[in-house]
Amino acid sequence: MMKAICVFNQKGGVGKTTTVVNLSAALGLKKKKVLVVDLDPQGNSSSGFGIDKNTLEHNVYDLFINDTLPISELIYKTESKNVDIIPSNTALSGVEVELINIADRESILKKALRDCKDYDYIIMDCPPSLGILSINALTASDSVLIPIQSEYYALEGVSQLVETINLVKKSLNKKLEVEGVLISMFDGRNNLSLEVVEEVKKYFKNKVFKTIIPRNVRLAEAPSYGESIFDYDEKSKGAIAYEKLAKEIIKNNK
Ligand SMILES: Nc1ncnc2c1ncn2[C@@H]1O[C@H](COP(=O)(O)OP(=O)(O)OP(=O)(O)O)[C@@H](O)[C@H]1O
Ligand SMILES: [Mg+2]
Repeated sequence: MMKAICVFNQKGGVGKTTTVVNLSAALGLKKKKVLVVDLDPQGNSSSGFGIDKNTLEHNVYDLFINDTLPISELIYKTESKNVDIIPSNTALSGVEVELINIADRESILKKALRDCKDYDYIIMDCPPSLGILSINALTASDSVLIPIQSEYYALEGVSQLVETINLVKKSLNKKLEVEGVLISMFDGRNNLSLEVVEEVKKYFKNKVFKTIIPRNVRLAEAPSYGESIFDYDEKSKGAIAYEKLAKEIIKNNK
């Protein structure tokens, strides 16, 4: 059974891309076949996998604009075991406007991914916005994984996030569930971090993953080498945490 998960939070810099890259790599190492879909014009998950996004013939932009191209033409292999990717680049930033007059523009990705049933997991990286790209991701997904940074304003914007998910659920994708809320960049030496964890648990109850991602400089360094944390430093705290998250997700989906 294929499971499509989008990693979504309209707030910037909360750990979406870091989670997409390293969770996907961890699932791949556990022999799951994974397709990453980069839906962010910044293309950070593409470069995080070492993809030279500006020299490729095709990318996710074609999926939205050029619907005669088979999706297999948009899929590239990564250096991570069992992980493929549909990359993105800045061309995607025009999509928001180009789709304004297109019917069913919220369901383009969902339709395209119908031909990708051979994967165990499809993991989507959303841009930090509530626009048409995020809506496409939410519409095409079985569930949404919400990273929340453990910092003072952690819950700021969360009600809008939940409202967006509920709206999509009502109109475009009735089966959409919350896969889990992931606390990221946790600093155990900081009392505030502990308070934020309590606050997030109070708000999201049993939806919060048991796994917490620590702040770990190795996670921040790995993307500049185009490597997942497992290729860059498999013994780091960050690698251990993302391996644990993959295990938790596989267990929850048994
Ligand atoms: N656990 C962590 N420890 C240390 N640094 C981290 C951690 N997670 C993410 N970072 C760093 O924090 C920054 C933001 O992370 P990331 O790019 O994953 O967030 P994002 O939500 O995808 O951002 P955007 O909204 O811009 O797409 C990056 O520089 C990343 O390397
Ligand atoms: Mg990102």
